[in-house]
Amino acid sequence: MLHSRIAGIGHHVPERIITNDYLSTIIDTNDDWITERTGIKERRFIDPEKDTVANMAAKASRMALDRAGVKAEEIEFIVFATITSDYYFPGSGVLLQRELGLESIPAMDIKNACSGFIYALSTADQFIRTGMYKKVLVIGAEIQSTALDLTTRGRGTAVIFGDGAGAAVLEASDQPGVLSTHLHSDGRFAEELYVKDPGSSRPHEERQAEQILDTSGFKVYMNGNLVFKHAVVRFMEVINEALDANGATKEEIDLLIPHQANLRISNYIQAKLGLPDEKVYNNIMRYGNTTAGSIPIAMSEAWEEGKIKENQVICLAAFGSGFTWASALIRWK
Ligand code: UT7
Repeated sequence: MLHSRIAGIGHHVPERIITNDYLSTIIDTNDDWITERTGIKERRFIDPEKDTVANMAAKASRMALDRAGVKAEEIEFIVFATITSDYYFPGSGVLLQRELGLESIPAMDIKNACSGFIYALSTADQFIRTGMYKKVLVIGAEIQSTALDLTTRGRGTAVIFGDGAGAAVLEASDQPGVLSTHLHSDGRFAEELYVKDPGSSRPHEERQAEQILDTSGFKVYMNGNLVFKHAVVRFMEVINEALDANGATKEEIDLLIPHQANLRISNYIQAKLGLPDEKVYNNIMRYGNTTAGSIPIAMSEAWEEGKIKENQVICLAAFGSGFTWASALIRWK
């Protein structure tokens, strides 16, 4: 039976560090509020002269390929999770394919926000299990900073998000690496965390109107309290779903990597599962919420720090816009 395994993982974040203290100079907020409510101390914002979603993804991919000992030319398929693609269309997958110089391999974009990387991983896993591809590049990359409302009006979201990219090389294996993935959505809450524009839901005259740029439809809207309440419930459900599907117990998790939405959410899940600090990886303090980038960036850093070792069981879990939520249980091979 065919399985997939993560052969290598990499990440790239922009150089520019934006501290809470810096944000406090441009909007009415402060380090104490941000630290206490989110755990974030700083995040990275791109340099528009230099960074794009696709080129950050290319840097993360090269690191992942190098660590996997796989040449870029061996990659047969790209699955690219982002809600902030370089263009409205086409997606960033084809731009990455071009950056890596990979002629005519397929590239698919996944637009499931914070759950995007797990959706992409699951998609790649299915293609490998059917035998269609043997080596797939799975990406989560995001530029949120340039869409943020960096005024006091937008402070509820402006202090949370950051930019960055992560990549994984998924390859066919006779031993199970990706043990299971579980994906969910509930579109009743689509407008509780969304960016409306440039959506097609507006009538013709509005879509054509130059004033559309003056609306807040291009900015992230989030009903933070409601999202928080759903997040803590769905995270637990989807982690338990992963454990049940594998006949595993929470004690068997060697490392939990939750999507980095809010340190309070991670701490809540940790407490509910009764996991010690060393079994939960968080880096939201340094990067904020990088949406689809958050899980692969965290996984790559955890691996660098020696916190992911051969044969360990890694649990990934995410919740975000849609609402969507997802988990993956992985044996590191
Ligand atoms: O990644 C996708 C999934 N996303 C999430 O899971 C995010 C879930 N939600 C959250 O993380 C939290 O709801 C937030 C961090 C977004 C907000 O934290 P909160 O504890 O829910 O705060 P709040 O929105 O209820 O606001 C509390 C107070 C308000 O003032 P009043 O009305 O009590 O006077 C806000 O105006 O804090 C105020 N506030 C701020 N103050 C300083 C909101 N944002 C800020 C800010 N700085 N940046």
